Amino acid sequence: MIAGMTSRDPGKPLPFSHYDRRQYPTLSVEEGYALWSRAYLGEDRFDLDLLGSSAVLGPTLEGASVLDLACGTGRIGRWLRARGAGAVTGVDRSGEMLRHAEALGVYARLAPGDITATGLPSGSMDGCVCSMALCHVPDLGAFFAECARVLVPGGFLAVVDYHPYFLLQGIPTHFPHPDTGAQVAIENVVHALSAVHREARARGFVVEELLERFVDEEWVSAQPGYAKHLGYPVTYAVTATLGR
Ligand SMILES: C[S@@+](CC[C@H](N)C(=O)[O-])C[C@H]1O[C@@H](n2cnc3c(N)ncnc32)[C@H](O)[C@@H]1O
Repeated sequence: MIAGMTSRDPGKPLPFSHYDRRQYPTLSVEEGYALWSRAYLGEDRFDLDLLGSSAVLGPTLEGASVLDLACGTGRIGRWLRARGAGAVTGVDRSGEMLRHAEALGVYARLAPGDITATGLPSGSMDGCVCSMALCHVPDLGAFFAECARVLVPGGFLAVVDYHPYFLLQGIPTHFPHPDTGAQVAIENVVHALSAVHREARARGFVVEELLERFVDEEWVSAQPGYAKHLGYPVTYAVTATLGR
């Protein structure tokens, strides 16, 4: 350390409840996605635009075995297969979301499980993709360690998540209750972008890209409800490769 400098903890975000401005009734991941699975569509602008613009993912997908972590109803698996991925495996904690993924017929294998401990064989995947789930996972280190474990050396990882900017504005993951239409939230954890970077590197990843999806004019003209978010970043993606 340089003389005169003191080591200082740079701090981290507080629990989401500190930021919450909506005060919607909040459900656990299990309860929330069991309910949301009845109407879940996902939003391609959140993640597919970022994944599609990645210089890391583009050339590596052809024929690759890919693990879709928190696969939900299978939107990402379908996209991976359309982009030339070989066998795609999906893991999710919600049996109800997995049932929809099963019906899509794009996965070589689907398994119930936690993305921090999938139980899949070590070194069995060329790539890992995880979209819109880290904002529910408290232990980032366990997540990146599990990705590193299941990947082959040199394998790729792409994570897309809800931008901390939105969580810090007090806007949680939420959806309209399928019976009543009232907004319901699902438990969130706020991760600083610096923590994602640090924890990925600590588990042996070389971070390649940081991409952000801002709400733009095209988005607002397609979905006028997003007008209030024009010019703000809704999601981010980090791509990385596992060191050899
Ligand atoms: C917003 S959905 C995203 C689904 C899919 N990746 C997509 O983008 O359409 C979040 C998913 O993450 C799953 N999930 C959240 N935490 C998880 C965990 N610790 N382990 C496994 N799945 C988890 C939920 O069950 C849900 O299916």
